Formats: sequence, structure tokens, C-alpha cells
Amino acid sequence: MIILKTVAFFDAKAYDRDSFSRFSDENISIRFFENKLNEDTVSMAACCDAVCAFVNDTINGEVIEKLSSYGVGVIAMRCAGYNNVDLKAAAGRIKVLRVPAYSPYAVAEHAMGLILTLNRKLHRAYIRTRDHNFSLEGLTGFDLRGKAVGIIGTGKIGRCFADVCKGFGMEIIGFDPYKSSEFCGKYVSLDGLLEKSDIISLHCPLTKENHHLINRETISKMKDGAYIINTSRGLLIDTAALTEGLKSGKIGAAGLDVYEEETALFFEDYSDEIIPDDTLSTIISMPNVIVTSHQAFLTREALDGIAGTTMENLRAYFAGDELKNEITL
Ligand code: NAI
Repeated sequence: MIILKTVAFFDAKAYDRDSFSRFSDENISIRFFENKLNEDTVSMAACCDAVCAFVNDTINGEVIEKLSSYGVGVIAMRCAGYNNVDLKAAAGRIKVLRVPAYSPYAVAEHAMGLILTLNRKLHRAYIRTRDHNFSLEGLTGFDLRGKAVGIIGTGKIGRCFADVCKGFGMEIIGFDPYKSSEFCGKYVSLDGLLEKSDIISLHCPLTKENHHLINRETISKMKDGAYIINTSRGLLIDTAALTEGLKSGKIGAAGLDVYEEETALFFEDYSDEIIPDDTLSTIISMPNVIVTSHQAFLTREALDGIAGTTMENLRAYFAGDELKNEITL
């Protein structure tokens, strides 16, 4: 007899319900909760066999302790990054699974979208022409062809992004402690990349070692007017240092899909409120900054990839099969 397994699905949005409905399994019942998973909401997972979580859920020691006491045996992350999971606390108690790859194109294309928008001021042109203002003052950009793009992290997404940049005729340089023969650019040191790049794009995971990789010191080594694009993780950038760089003109523009304090804000609608984050309010007000709310992954293809692999991960766990996508310490 097959016993129905129950999954507590946190931070659920309409697009999640939609994509997961296409990969449903008659032996797995999903309870969708709109709340993010954290110390206050973890009790919603009581009586469930598994938890499905996302990038802005808080999966710390306390949450893991409680999940374990409820008998939850597995956390299925429906994302690639897992910096928000306390793996030490989970070790030996709860399995942690993830989706290592799902359309790297989605994130790479979004990073290029941020560059094109910032450089050609499309965000400003859109507002202007809607107001019947057809002036071109202040909208001058530069050709991407021949400009140096520095890619920090040349894994799946970084390499895709490099291929996109190649199509624009850019000079591609990269920094990664692990070099890939599939990277279409030239590897340089981190300092070499900072000094040479007209545009710097972050595509490495967040680790203890690279917290605030972009800080006052690294910014001081950049070319004047360099662009910074971050579609990776917010804590890779010291936002206070970035703000200083933007104010002084050292940084020419910033395209941020992630933000170090995003957990409390991103994925929710606060349009009727004054947000309590002055740093974010300041950078959002700058004409040469675009903030998107961690949406780089959000394509139909990526959502289907996420749902398919997450359900496959859960099926394998419940069946006692080999866990190809388990994260271990
Ligand atoms: P990947 O694992 O294929 O590649 C990451 C690369 O970064 C590896 O080659 C690794 O050696 C390198 N790396 C690690 N530490 C580094 C450092 N300190 N400096 C330079 N390189 C370093 O990962 P993938 O799939 O390319 O994803 C990259 C990151 O993109 C994820 O970790 C995640 O944080 C972010 N991401 C963001 C999404 C979004 O919607 N904004 C969606 C998916 C991923």
C-alpha cells in the first residue's frame, strides 16, 4: 500500500502552484503556504513529511531543530543556492536536496537585460515617452562592442552569460578559482578583472569567504564609471560601499537582482507602504540603478525545470532511491 506523503511548501506564489501542478505526483500531496519559512512559521510544517523552501526562507539551526522534532525528513530547496540553510545543523538529521541547474539562460539573459536597460536608459525612456516627453537629453549610452566584461564565477550561469556577451562583440574576461575549458573568455586574477572591466557581473555562489566581495577596497580598484551587475546573491556586495561609489561617480551604474537585506522585502507587495530600509530607498531613487526583486530565474522554462527536478528529488527520497541532488557538508 502506498502512503500519501505531505510536503509543506513555503513562500508559495501563483506561478509555483501553476508549475508544480504540471509535475504532480499522486503519492505526494503539497500544502502551499504563502508565508516564508522561519522560526515563527515553522510550526506549519508539523505533521508534514517534507518541506519545500526557496531563496528567502530562513533555515537556521532553530528551524531545523523544530522540523526534525516534527519528523520532517527532507528539505527540498527549489533553487540552486543554499546559503540560507544551516547545513551543519541539518547534518545527520534532515536531508537537504536542491535543483543544481535549471535554465542558466534565464539568469544570464536577465543580467544582459539589466546592462542594456542601464546603458541605453530604457527605464527612463519608457517613462518619458509615456509622458509625451520625446527629448533625448541624458539618454546617451555606449557601444557594448569592444568593451571588457568581467565575469566573477564562470560556472553554468557565468558561462552562459559569457556566450551572450560574445554575441555583442565584447571582450570577455573571467575570474574563478576553478577554471572551465568551456568558458569562452580569458581567465585573469581578481585584481586584473577589477582593473580592466567596464562591466563586472557576479555569477559565483555566496560563501563565507566571499561575503562582501565587492567592498570599498575592491571598488577602489575598478575603472572609473564601471558598471556592477549582481544576479547572484545580495551579500556579495557591501551596499553601503556601493552607494558611496555610485554617489561619487566611481560606479557608473548598478543592476541588482539581489540585495543583501532582501529577505524581509522581496517577493512581497509593499507599494502602499513606506519601506523601513533607507539604504534600499536611496539606491532605488538613483537614475543609474535598477533593482529587480530576485526575478532573474523567472521564465516558464526555468519554473518547469525547478518543479520537475524538485518533484523528482522528493520522489527519490520517498522511494529510498539514490539522492543525486543532495547537498552535503
Ligand atoms: P555553478 O555552481 O555552476 O557556478 C558557480 C561558479 O562560481 C563555480 O565555477 C565556482 O567555482 C565559482 N566560484 C565560487 N566561489 C567563487 C569566488 N569567490 N570567486 C569567483 N568564482 C567563484 O552555479 P550557477 O548555476 O552558475 O549559479 C551561480 C549563482 O547564481 C548561484 O550560486 C546563485 O547564487 C545565483 N542564482 C541566482 C538566481 C536568480 O534568480 N537571481 C537563480 C539561480 C542562481
